[in-house]
Amino acid sequence: MSLIEKIRAKARNSMKRIALPEGDEPRTVAAAKIVAEEGIADPVLITPASIADPANASRLSAYARALYELRKAKGLTEEAAERLVRDPMYYGMMMVKCGDADGLVSGAVHSTGDMLRPALQVIRTAPGMKLVSASFLIECPDTSIGESGLVVYADCVVNPCPDAEGLANIAVATAKTAKGLCGITEPRVAMLSFSTKGSAEHELVDKVRKATEIARSLAPGLLIDGELQFDAALLPEVAAIKAKDSPVAGRANIFIFPDLQSGNIGYKITQRLGGAASFAVLQGLASPCNDLSRGCSVDDIVNTIAATSVQACIPE
Ligand SMILES: CC(C)(COP(=O)(O)OP(=O)(O)OC[C@H]1O[C@@H](n2cnc3c(N)ncnc32)[C@H](O)[C@@H]1OP(=O)(O)O)[C@@H](O)C(=O)NCCC(=O)NCCS
Repeated sequence: MSLIEKIRAKARNSMKRIALPEGDEPRTVAAAKIVAEEGIADPVLITPASIADPANASRLSAYARALYELRKAKGLTEEAAERLVRDPMYYGMMMVKCGDADGLVSGAVHSTGDMLRPALQVIRTAPGMKLVSASFLIECPDTSIGESGLVVYADCVVNPCPDAEGLANIAVATAKTAKGLCGITEPRVAMLSFSTKGSAEHELVDKVRKATEIARSLAPGLLIDGELQFDAALLPEVAAIKAKDSPVAGRANIFIFPDLQSGNIGYKITQRLGGAASFAVLQGLASPCNDLSRGCSVDDIVNTIAATSVQACIPE
């Protein structure tokens, strides 16, 4: 069974309510029909007409009030909150915030930033998390690597230049995603660098070492090591030479990149040269919200709705 098949099967047991703010978009409408019919989730298609429906007036004003309370310290006025909440994206975020939906999926029309910004402003981070980031779940044809061919990379989407504390947060969040969404029972986290265990000295390497220490203090039970080069983290024969006492080197299934440039480039190389299938999810939000690519298929939307439902079941 592929990872995505496992995720769809898990979602069937949870049937979470997922808000879909692009409720007029044909692929989204088709995906909503499939997830409802297959019992993967309870989809809520949000459209400007459904928001403006007089039967919805009391909910609309409750969301406007709640949005104003959330953002008034940032300068949002009551009038602006009333206007903003009529935008399906903000309406969907308020549904999740107020407990009327368990998660949200969007991005067939909107850009990543258009979806991320309201999620960061309204949903905010989960308790104990300082950053929202994104994991790429990557299935490689070679099943001898990672977790039977499955590896998880982060952060490949959100944070251009995380500091050591941010990087540590990303590592802990990714281990949680690997466990809760991918079923990896023993996350083994490699903190990547161009140095392995002191082979090079630079302030960029210091950042990765510091992040490793912070992550250990945040999650004492987690198998995590750094700084490691990618080959030392992945391959037992290289680990035996460069990092032989490491509990992670040579058997890592989670790879934390030091910044967004390396993370984004890394996943694309794996995908294009390695022939690996990949799938991205956001992590670290107080409730799950996920972004689609604008070129997504109906099947991609169904998969993302399923993953969002499973994330909604992961305990904090
Ligand atoms: C995520 C992103 C959209 C934030 O956009 P922004 O316009 O710079 O937003 P701001 O910096 O004004 O932050 C908005 C809010 O989100 C919060 N925030 C920003 N980044 C955050 C993060 N990673 N985690 C948690 N909160 C974050 C800010 O603290 C701010 O909160 P506040 O309004 O309550 O004070 C921006 O970091 C970004 O564009 N990242 C790269 C995305 C990208 O292009 N990826 C390409 C690969 S697909």
